Amino acid sequence: EKDGHDWFMRKEIFEQPRAVADSLLGRRTRTGALQLDEMRLSDQEIRDIDKIIIIAAGTSFYAGMVAKYAIEHWCRVPVEVELSSEFRYRDPILDFSTLVVAISQSGETADTLQAIRHARTQRSKVLAICNTNGSTIPRESDAVIYTHAGPEIGVASTKGFLTQLVATYLLALYIAQVKGTRYGDEIAEVMHQLEAIPAQIEELLGRCEEVYELARAHVTATSVLFLGRHAGYPVALEGALKLKEIAYLHAEGFAAGELKHGPIALITDGLPVLCVVPPQGRDQLHAKMLSGIQEVRARGARTICLAEEGDEAIPRYADHLIRLPKVPVLLQPLVATVPLQLFACELATGLGHDVDQPRNLAKSVTVE
Ligand code: M6R
Repeated sequence: EKDGHDWFMRKEIFEQPRAVADSLLGRRTRTGALQLDEMRLSDQEIRDIDKIIIIAAGTSFYAGMVAKYAIEHWCRVPVEVELSSEFRYRDPILDFSTLVVAISQSGETADTLQAIRHARTQRSKVLAICNTNGSTIPRESDAVIYTHAGPEIGVASTKGFLTQLVATYLLALYIAQVKGTRYGDEIAEVMHQLEAIPAQIEELLGRCEEVYELARAHVTATSVLFLGRHAGYPVALEGALKLKEIAYLHAEGFAAGELKHGPIALITDGLPVLCVVPPQGRDQLHAKMLSGIQEVRARGARTICLAEEGDEAIPRYADHLIRLPKVPVLLQPLVATVPLQLFACELATGLGHDVDQPRNLAKSVTVE
């Protein structure tokens, strides 16, 4: 049942190429336009959307953070991302032109369910992104996009996260198509890049031994930091959450630009810092990230850098380097998350922990 793997979590990490491919399947019409079958919102309803609020918890919340970058960039619609447990209590401003997107792998998370119930009392449309057919959240939503991860047994979400990312990219591209904020060939180009991702993840997984070795070298760590920028920031948060959940290790993710506003005081000699390096581009993101890495290194941190193939600037800054396939910055979470999952899984199993059933955690959190 675990396909020769020792843990469901590891099996699920290795299932990601298929899970991503399945989530992309059948999304294009013969003319190449994007179609979302279960999307029960009319084109007019989509054109009327002037604000999107994403609500989710835990790992699903980090998928929501990535979605914000994608939707704002492609659709030019303002997006807020809110933790389900906080949403109702801040008296959110909602009306019929607000689309609320609830992201939940299980479809049963109580905080998220209560949040969508509240949104519907305010006449907002609710769209669920969910991995579980017939679960409560999609049943109580106006529309749904199902992810096709297959059942996720490990309490720590892995393939669930990657397929949520795919679903939010599809949603963003679909809104862009209907609202006309992107040309058809731009949308087709991103679909093409998404369709290349499964093979790129496969290639990364083929190099898992590199990451495992690194993880085994860190079993005595007492604290690990993660840095990222832009879409790499939620990846840093997700990498830290995985380590907390299954290795019971103190881990924190930061936006690299925030370092100088406080967290840099945490850096001590030998502290491992995992850095998600954005692709080299025309903007300043890459250069700014390098200067952040340099800052922590100058204070004694040991840097483990995840950087794209062909990034020749990075080796000087990295104590360890994990190469990522070349993808655009918005899609980078789909590949950059994978080594962080492998790292957490190997470190935790090295410590002798049950990674499928971590202490104090449940697969779906049905209490508020
Ligand atoms: O089923 P959901 O996506 O609504 O669950 C949300 C969180 O409880 C979940 O992502 C949790 O953080 C996982 N244990 C993360 O690995």
